[in-house]
Amino acid sequence: MNTEIFVLDSEDIDRSVIQRAGKIIKDGGLVAFPTETVYGLGGDALNPGSSARIYAAKGRPSDNPLIVHIADMEALSKIVTEIPEGAFKLAEAYWPGPLTMIFHKKPVVPYETTGGLDTVAVRMPSDVIARELIKASGGYIAAPSANLSGRPSPTSASFVKEDMDGRIEMILDGGDSEVGLESTIVDFTDVHPMILRPGYITEEMISSVLGVEVGLDPALKRDDPSFRPKAPGMKYRHYAPKGELVIVTGPQDLVTERINAMVREDSEKGFSTGVMASGDTASLYRADSVKALGAKGRAEETAHGLFRALREFDDEGIDRIYSESFAGPGVGTAIMNRLIKAAGHHIIQL
Ligand code: TXA
Ligand code: MG
Repeated sequence: MNTEIFVLDSEDIDRSVIQRAGKIIKDGGLVAFPTETVYGLGGDALNPGSSARIYAAKGRPSDNPLIVHIADMEALSKIVTEIPEGAFKLAEAYWPGPLTMIFHKKPVVPYETTGGLDTVAVRMPSDVIARELIKASGGYIAAPSANLSGRPSPTSASFVKEDMDGRIEMILDGGDSEVGLESTIVDFTDVHPMILRPGYITEEMISSVLGVEVGLDPALKRDDPSFRPKAPGMKYRHYAPKGELVIVTGPQDLVTERINAMVREDSEKGFSTGVMASGDTASLYRADSVKALGAKGRAEETAHGLFRALREFDDEGIDRIYSESFAGPGVGTAIMNRLIKAAGHHIIQL
């Protein structure tokens, strides 16, 4: 299949391209598109055949449900049985934006889209290209991140092309993703709301709007497969670069010393090496490829550059990657959730 790529200017969107993309989705085809979090791989959420094609294009296990993207609140009530008070409050505070909520689904949403579940994940993105595309496609776009299963989520159209060229009808290029990490997921289908995936909208932001403490799914805090995360996708190894990734954490001077020692050892053995560090410490490292992920304490910058860095190490053919820890308040939780998964829980604590 020939994958068409169109560059769109979000200040002056070419309607004819959006109409064409919308028609592809209505006809059961797939279009990758920008959102403020990461690029999505979109198909008609109410068409079981489209969801099946999404799984095939990604090489993704079909028990891993998709997020349904909508452009307005009217669309929500047509696909969910009930909207709890708390969900209304969060929608008012953070929609459109990088937040996904889980509801009980109406029969109109096919099980192919929800991975067999009676619940459905819904998000209203803020990206204007995404919103125009949703409206032109009939109102409901199922979209996982537009990467091959297991690879880091794409934060630019060229990364989408790397993974999806020849597998889908169209890619809309809207430039770099603003946030760089996937949306925060909040579940409203249980007795208490719970965060199933940390993201840019933090635990504190959600708790303060709801007026109750909303916690993170406890299964995410353990490296133990017998604890199953409620979001099926969180159990898969994910975001992984091709090289082996290890996180080193502890006092800065010890971390720097240890990483440089491991880099030296690897180089002597003939491995190419990479380091991910903060902008303040990057110059202390002597690897083949050193990536600065924003100044210390500027978690938004780190989030923005994390998946790009992981993909660049792949392109550079790096065998061994060492990363500083980016733990911290707020978005730090989401960054470490992705980084620890990318490292397959390989952490050296000094
Ligand atoms: O920011 C995002 O959310 C991006 C952009 C494209 O919108 N999308 C995204 O989709 O990250 P995906 O498919 O890569 O991740 C969806 C996550 C998976 O972990 C999946 O298991 C979970 O949402 N999920 C979807 N529906 C669910 C449901 N009904 N119950 C529990 N978890 C669900
Ligand atoms: Mg994904």
